[in-house]
This record gives sequence, structure tokens and C-alpha cells, in this order.
Amino acid sequence: MLSKSMQEALNKQVLMEAESSQAYLAIASWADIQPGLQGVTEFFYKQSDEERIHMLKLIRFINERGGFAMVPALEQPMVTFQSLRRVFDEFLKHELKVSDSINDLVHQSLTEKDYATHNFLQWYVNEQMEEEHTARTLNDKLELVGDDKGGLYLFDRDIMMFRGAAERGKGKG
Ligand SMILES: [Fe+2]
Ligand SMILES: [Fe+2]
Repeated sequence: MLSKSMQEALNKQVLMEAESSQAYLAIASWADIQPGLQGVTEFFYKQSDEERIHMLKLIRFINERGGFAMVPALEQPMVTFQSLRRVFDEFLKHELKVSDSINDLVHQSLTEKDYATHNFLQWYVNEQMEEEHTARTLNDKLELVGDDKGGLYLFDRDIMMFRGAAERGKGKG
């Protein structure tokens, strides 16, 4: 059975995953109307779907453990971006924030001796390591490319491969 405080903390994480999903959906939609960014567009539509799955996993866990998962209200995320650099900078910053939040949850589960929740959260710990790695890799690539149009073309063409590599590493998560 979940404690009230654990339930509250997990519900905050539900909000965070929902916000991630919205934020990445907004990036996908922005990229969708830019010329030549089909790869980035697909990447963020997919990323948005995955964040929704992270949210659903939490909702089901909270309810299964005798709590009540509350579907949160959402604010409008950032919807336009100055540049691709800005997009991927936001992506990394956002994932680092999520990682901090997951770490806090893990800490709380240990403090409360809630080992079921602790065990459940390990999936998120692994997920965040991969998300950070993907975001860092993509930022590094963009740094290399700079303003080179040919490089940007290749970046957009290859972006799904980076995510594919991360997924192959974790099997069918
Ligand atoms: Fe997530
Ligand atoms: Fe994420």
C-alpha cells in the first residue's frame, strides 16, 4: 500500500511525464512545418508517445498499489523555437530535470522503506540514463555540424538511428 506522501510524489511524476509528452509533441509539430526536418519531426512524435507511456506506467502502478492516480491539468509548453540547437538544448535540460525528479523519488522510497516502489522506479532510472545519453549525443552532433547545411541534412536523416541504437541496447523495454 502506498503512503500518502509517496502517492503524492508519484502523482507529481505523472504530471512531469505528461508535461514531457506535451513538450515533445509541441517540438514535433514545430519541426513538422519547418522545411526538411522530417527526421527530427518523427523523432519527437515518437518521443512524445514514449513519455505518454511513462505516464501510463506510473498511473497504473499508483492505482495497483492502492493509491489514486490523478490526471493532471497541463500548461501550454514552448511551441516555437529559434533554432534546432535551441530544441536539443531544451531536450537535454528537460531530461536532466526529469532525472533529478526520479532520483528524488528513489530516495524517498528508500527513506520510507517502500521497496515495491523502489523496485518499480529502477525502470525509470535506466530509462533516464538512456534519455540523457541520447540527448547528449544529439547535442554533440549538432555542435559538430554547426551551421553546415550538408551536416544538418545528414543529422536529420540519421537522427532515428541514434534512438534505434539506444533501443537495441535496452531490448524491448
Ligand atoms: Fe519520461
Ligand atoms: Fe524522457
